Amino acid sequence: MTGKFYIETYGCQMNSYDSQAIEGILEGLGMTPVLKPEAADLIIFNTCSVRDAAEQRVIGRINQLDGLRRGRKGRLLMGVAGCMSQRMGEELIAVTKRRLDFVVGPDQYNNLPEILARIEAEERDLCYRDFDQEVAYFAKPKDTPPGGTHFVAVMRGCDKFCTYCIVPFTRGRERSRDRRSIVEEVERLAARGAFEVMLLGQAVSSYCDDDLDFAGLLGEVSAVEGIESVRFMTSYPTDMDIGFFRAVASLPKVGTGIHLPFQSGSDKILKAMNRRYTIGEYERILENGRREVPGLLFSTDIIVGFPGETEEDFQATLAVVERQAFISAYMFKYSPREGTLSARWEDDIPTAVKEERLGRLIALQERMSRRQLDRCLGQEMEILLDEPSKKLETQLRGRTRSNVRVIIDKDPDLKIGSKVMVRVTEIKGTSLLAVRVQGD
Ligand code: 5AD
Ligand code: SF4
Repeated sequence: MTGKFYIETYGCQMNSYDSQAIEGILEGLGMTPVLKPEAADLIIFNTCSVRDAAEQRVIGRINQLDGLRRGRKGRLLMGVAGCMSQRMGEELIAVTKRRLDFVVGPDQYNNLPEILARIEAEERDLCYRDFDQEVAYFAKPKDTPPGGTHFVAVMRGCDKFCTYCIVPFTRGRERSRDRRSIVEEVERLAARGAFEVMLLGQAVSSYCDDDLDFAGLLGEVSAVEGIESVRFMTSYPTDMDIGFFRAVASLPKVGTGIHLPFQSGSDKILKAMNRRYTIGEYERILENGRREVPGLLFSTDIIVGFPGETEEDFQATLAVVERQAFISAYMFKYSPREGTLSARWEDDIPTAVKEERLGRLIALQERMSRRQLDRCLGQEMEILLDEPSKKLETQLRGRTRSNVRVIIDKDPDLKIGSKVMVRVTEIKGTSLLAVRVQGD
C-alpha cells in the first residue's frame, strides 16, 4: 500500500503515544505521514470518549473533512481509532452516515494492514474492536529528539471502574507490559537522544510485573543511561503509600510533580463515584508525600456537578483546593457517558449550575496556582532544559524537577538536555522567568 496519511489525535497522552504506533505501522506498509489532511489519501481520527464534547467535535470534524472528497481524483479513506471506535463500533459508522471506511479499537492497530487490504478489495464498513489482553504496541519514536518528553505506555486499561468513567469500557482490563520491553524501549529512545520519558497508564501507579511494582519500575527506568528525567501519569491515590514516596525521594531523576486526581472533596460523592478513599485519606496521602519528598508539587483532576452534588458537597471540593494549593488542576463539568453506572442516575445538576460551580472553582484554582508560583520568586533551583522557546529565538525552555515551566535567556554554552541552576525573577502566566545563577 502506498499513499499519504494524516492522523488527527484527540484526548490523552496515551492517544498521542498510540498515534505514533499507528504511524509506525502505516510506514511499515510504505505509506508516508503528512501534516495536513488536504494532502492525505488516508485520514485517521484517534479519538477520546471521556466527555461528550470531545466526541461531538470529532463527529463535526469527520463531516467537515468529508468535503475534501468532493472534486478529488483518487480515493480518500477515513477511519476512526481510539476510544470512540471501541465505545460505538458500527454505530459510529451509522452516525457519520457511512462517511467512514473503518473503525478500529485500541487493541486492534496491528490489524491495520489487513483492514486497508480489505478496503482495497472493496469491502466496506469494517469494524475491528475486540479486546486483546496480550496486545502491546511500541510507538515509533518521534523524529525530533533531543527535546521534548517522550511517552512510553507501561500499562493499558483500567480496573478501577469509577462510576462516571468510560475508560474501563473503551480500554479494557488493566495489563502491565513486561519490564524488559519497557526498559528496552527507553534504551532505544535514549540512544536516539531522548533525555526525558513520561511513563503512561490510566492508573500507572498500579503497574505490576510479577514482583516488580511501580516504584521498582521507576528505579529500572531511571537507571537507563542518558535519561535525565522520568515522569509519569496518571496515578491513583491509594497506590501512593509511604514506601512509594520514599522511592521517589531516593531516585533523583524521578520528577516530583505528581498528578493525583481527587475528583471531589465530598465523601458522599467520592463513594458514589466508587473512588476508593475518603477525602481525609486523600489529604493524608498528600501530607505523606510532602513529608517524604522535598519540593513535591501535586496537580489534580476535579469533576463538578456529579449527580447529587449539593452546594455543600461543592464547598467541600473548594475547601480541598484552598487547603492543598495544587500547582495546577484539570477541572471538568460532569458529562454522563452511556454504559457507565452513573449514566443510569439522573443528571440532576442543571448545566447553568455546573457552569457556575466550574467558574468558581477555576477562579480559586488560578489564585492557588499563582500562590505556588509566587513562592518560587527569588528562589534558586535546578532546571532541565528541554526545548527551544516556541516564541523567541533568544530563549530556552526548561522545567523544574517538580515540573514547573521555566524560561531563560539562551547562552552559547547552554544545551538542551542539560541541567542548569537558575534564579526565578518573574512569573509569566503559568511559567517562571529566570536567570542563570553565576558561577554555575
Ligand atoms: N465527566 C466529566 N469528567 C470526566 N472525567 C472522566 N470521566 C468524566 C465524565 N464522565 C475526568 C476525570 C478524569 C479525567 C481524565 O477526566 O476527572 O480524571
Ligand atoms: Fe477512569 Fe477511574 Fe480508571 Fe481513572 S481510575 S481511568 S477515572 S475508571
